[in-house]
Amino acid sequence: MGFKHVFVCVNQRPPGHPMGSCADKGSREIYQTLMEKIQMDPDLMMNVAVTPTGCLGPCAIGPTIVVYPEGVWYGNVKSEDIDEIIESHLKGDKPVERLVVSKGKPPGLL
Ligand code: FES
Repeated sequence: MGFKHVFVCVNQRPPGHPMGSCADKGSREIYQTLMEKIQMDPDLMMNVAVTPTGCLGPCAIGPTIVVYPEGVWYGNVKSEDIDEIIESHLKGDKPVERLVVSKGKPPGLL
């Protein structure tokens, strides 16, 4: 298990904003749940940093999460997906492919 840094978009736009936001789609709960699970596990505590961020770009497919050093971009993440991301990717170094929207660069960039 190598060191990982996880960025979770918790951007909140005003109600009715045409772009919506990850916070509207539950990203703050995702961030909270991820933090709680990491704090309960000493291995994760030593090897994973989690940072809440502003908009990461691909709002339409949020909630958006990026995991470095791989630069794996996840989209449409739900709270129910967190255990799988922890076990498979953060602990096992295997990204959860069904949620991956891009690797190495933001989705939509060539
Ligand atoms: S609001 Fe989350 S990616 Fe833009």
